[in-house]
Amino acid sequence: MTAAFADRRKSLVEKMDGEQVDSLLITRPADWYYLTGFTGESGALVVSRRGSTLITDGRFAGQAKTETPGVNVVLQKPSLFESAGRFIGSQNYKNVGFDPTQLSVAQFRAVRKAAERGSKWKPVSGLTAALRMRKQPQELAVMRRAAILAGQVVEGVVGLLKTGVRELEIAAEVEFQMRKLGASGPAFETIVAFGERSALPHARPTPKRLKKNELVVLDVGAILAHYCSDITRTFYFGTAPKRIRMWYQSVQDAQVAAIAAVKNGASCGDVDAAARQVLERTGLDKYFVHSTGHGLGLEVHEDPRLGRGQKQRLEPGNVVTIEPGVYVEGIGGIRIEDDVAVHSDRTEVLTRIPRDLIEI
Ligand code: GLY
Ligand code: MN
Repeated sequence: MTAAFADRRKSLVEKMDGEQVDSLLITRPADWYYLTGFTGESGALVVSRRGSTLITDGRFAGQAKTETPGVNVVLQKPSLFESAGRFIGSQNYKNVGFDPTQLSVAQFRAVRKAAERGSKWKPVSGLTAALRMRKQPQELAVMRRAAILAGQVVEGVVGLLKTGVRELEIAAEVEFQMRKLGASGPAFETIVAFGERSALPHARPTPKRLKKNELVVLDVGAILAHYCSDITRTFYFGTAPKRIRMWYQSVQDAQVAAIAAVKNGASCGDVDAAARQVLERTGLDKYFVHSTGHGLGLEVHEDPRLGRGQKQRLEPGNVVTIEPGVYVEGIGGIRIEDDVAVHSDRTEVLTRIPRDLIEI
């Protein structure tokens, strides 16, 4: 992997040339991991054509040195941003790029003050994000495993859906099982929502107990070898009434249409529209209150975003979720979510478990 990290830094430097910055301050953990392999929790990375320097504190000194061959490691003294600024000042960079979406005002002021000399600071967003969007074969191999693992976890907890079980107990079981299967943890707080609570797209698990004739939404993400998966399945605890079956079929049809629209060169907005148009036919589009999907990788939400009117075009290496849903207050919600990779000539669904409505 050392060579892959070095290649990514090289690609980043080429992008930096396009933005006319000779150095770039990186403070997002997923970005510094992508560029160096550093897994510590605190740091700042400065990338330049002359080389890259990671500033971190004593807790991570050992791992920084072993994880980031080819990267200069500097221990902070006293604070991270002051030290990063002093380092930048010592290098006489002319144009320092920073990402205004990744730095608080206080952090930016501290780093700029410590740099002192005549550097110009230039806001540049999304350079590393653009590289991260195009997954390399070794990243896709891990993401396939992460997606399969999330599906196994969903299948592994279905048998626990019994009258009286609490949402929190199912969430605990989900996280326990994913770790037993090799995940380092959940990619986001596991969503388990019973009955009316499933109308909240991002319901947090509560002590609510499962009752007969309720919808069950399970949204599970696992991190495996740094990469996230994200899968949602909706079940009916009992025999689903006709209306729920109709809603489920509509969401499933919307997902099929959106997955079919995922293609190298397709616009993200068109993928979103494909799902929305299917829901319009049954009048359910007004209950589809979020976008159709999002990029997935080292973070659970990354570029590209599959929302209304998004002009960005899909490219080989993109991995996105496709997750249409309908949410009806007072009744419940239905969402079906899978992870999909874009190749030059085909689309690959990474998640593997069946999508039909399961009545338990
Ligand atoms: N599955 C959680 C989310 O996409 O936000
Ligand atoms: Mn998702």
